[in-house]
This record gives sequence, structure tokens and C-alpha cells, in this order.
Amino acid sequence: MSWYKGLKGKILFDEPLSAHTSFKIPAKAGIWIEPFDLEDLRRFIKVARARDLDYVVIGEGSNLLFRRRRIPLVVHLGSPNFKRMSVEGNYLTAGAAAALGRIIQKAKQHGLGGLEFLSGIPGALGGALVMNAGTGWPRRREIGDFIDSIEVIDKNANVRLLHKAACGFGYRSSSLSSDCIITSATLKLKRKSNRAIQKEISGFLNYRCKRQDLKNPSAGCIFKNPQGVSAGRLIDRCGLKGRKIGGAAISRKHANFIINRGRASGDDVFSLMELIKKEVYKKFRFNLEPEVRVIE
Ligand code: EPU
Repeated sequence: MSWYKGLKGKILFDEPLSAHTSFKIPAKAGIWIEPFDLEDLRRFIKVARARDLDYVVIGEGSNLLFRRRRIPLVVHLGSPNFKRMSVEGNYLTAGAAAALGRIIQKAKQHGLGGLEFLSGIPGALGGALVMNAGTGWPRRREIGDFIDSIEVIDKNANVRLLHKAACGFGYRSSSLSSDCIITSATLKLKRKSNRAIQKEISGFLNYRCKRQDLKNPSAGCIFKNPQGVSAGRLIDRCGLKGRKIGGAAISRKHANFIINRGRASGDDVFSLMELIKKEVYKKFRFNLEPEVRVIE
């Protein structure tokens, strides 16, 4: 009997991964597993450990670049059981697969604000926490600032509750590594009027619309900003806007966006990233660090 027969969730074979990432780069998952609920996820982890199976966990794929064309085993928390949300007082608890936009709206319905700066950022809670998603405008704000606790499941299938201090949040980073899977989190929010929340949401959406390339498939900003400087400005000053390799191009609207013009491969994007790094280092002596998670 196949090892996955005892699982209750969705199982797909040869699943195209282009449909599961904002970059839309072609790759396939040999086996794609969506556990039904927490128990089913624990069951999967136990089987995987017993059989020494390697797997990649992916969220909504908005910050992900596949260089490999085929990944044997992918786990994705896509079941409605990981999208649930509840509110108690100033605390909102959401499953790892809850979309950021839905969380902002749910909070708003309860007169809670604080997360408006995440408006327009694609993706779900789990991924946003791993990379401590945030904004630098008009001041630095990150999702980690709002965390009360995070529920994770470790490689031994034990469920653990981590408090903010144990999550190692930094600029576009955390210590929530691939050793555990985030299943849900509780955020502490602030009382705020509906009008004030809506005004902030519109402000952030407007800012992104004006400056960022939201029309073409991409993974958002591809490099982190070096301290005190915008990577986009550095790349722009190297005269690289519009530069292409294969099906990938540096956006003409925002130089820190690499876009898929239709037929980009992971290698096209990666080569463009290498070219950017080389040029920015040559001209400004900054070592750019990828923001995107590259699956080699
Ligand atoms: N700039 C240029 N040329 C460009 C792009 C930007 O000269 O092609 C200049 C702008 O004119 C501006 C400065 O660089 O003076 C900063 O640009 P922007 O306001 O677009 O912000 P950013 O530093 O490029 C950061 C985050 C974004 C976030 C925005 C707004 C990083 C790597 N990027 O971008 O996050 O949305 O601030 O808060 O931290 C992401 O993480 O994927 C992302 C897009």
C-alpha cells in the first residue's frame, strides 16, 4: 500500500506549480499534499519521518522561485481548516492559510486595526510570518510587531506554541525555519474606527499601485534593501530597467521587481538576479541579498 493512503486530505500527482506561485514559473510537484486538518498534518509528518521522506512546504507562493523543474513531494496547507479566523477582545487568531486581505477585513469588522500596511501584499499568514512581511513607508512596520503567539508543528509532529520573543523577527526574516510548519497565529491588534482603517488601506493600495509592477507575474521585491538604501534605486541607477534574460525582465516600473514576460524559467530569473548582484556590487559595493525564497 502506498504510504499516503492513510491521509484524509487532497493528494494530487504531477501538479503544475506555476498555478501555485505568483511568478508563474513552470515546475511540477510529483506528489502534492494538502492535509485535511491538524491531525492529518501530524499523521503526514509522522509517516514522512518514519520513511525519511524529504518535502518542501509552500504557502501561497508569492515569494517563491523554483529553479528545479520537479519537486518530488510538496506540502501545502490549503484546506479550509487552516483558513479559519476568530476574534476575542483585541486578539485575532487565524490559520496559516488565511489570506492577508481577509485577515485585514475580519479585523476591520471587529473594529480592530494595525495590519492595514499589509494591504495589497499577496499571500497568506504563514508565509508572511516566516519572512516577517512589512512595509518601509511611511515608516517601517512588520507583521512580527503584532504577534502574540504562533502555533507550529515540529519535525516530530509535536504541536508547540511560540511567543513573539522566540520567533527572532528581523527585517524580512525570522527564525521560523523549515524545521517547523506554522499552523496558526494570534495577533494583538488595536481598537480603531472603520473610517481610519479604510483610509489607511486605501493609502497603502494607492502607494503600491503607483510604484510597483502589479500587472505582471513577479515575486514582489526580489532583493532585500541594504540598510538605509533602496535596492530598487540602486538597480535603477545601474541602468538595468528593462534588461531581459530569456523570458524574465527587470520591470521598467520598479527596478527591484523581476517579471515573468510569459515563458520565464527559474534559471532565467536566477541569471538576472546574478547579473543585478554583479552590477550593483561593481557600481556601489553593496552585496544584495535575495528576498525571494529560492528552491534549488
Ligand atoms: N526607486 C527608484 N527606482 C526604482 C524603484 C525605486 O529610484 O525603480 C526609488 C523611489 O523613487 C524611492 C525609493 O527608491 O525614492 C524607495 O522606493 P519604494 O518607495 O518603491 O520602496 P522600496 O524601498 O523599493 C520597500 C519594500 C517594499 C514595500 C515598499 C513600500 C523591500 C525590499 N521593499 O520598497 O516591499 O512595499 O518599501 O513600503 O523592503 C516586498 O517586500 O516584496 C516589497 C515590495
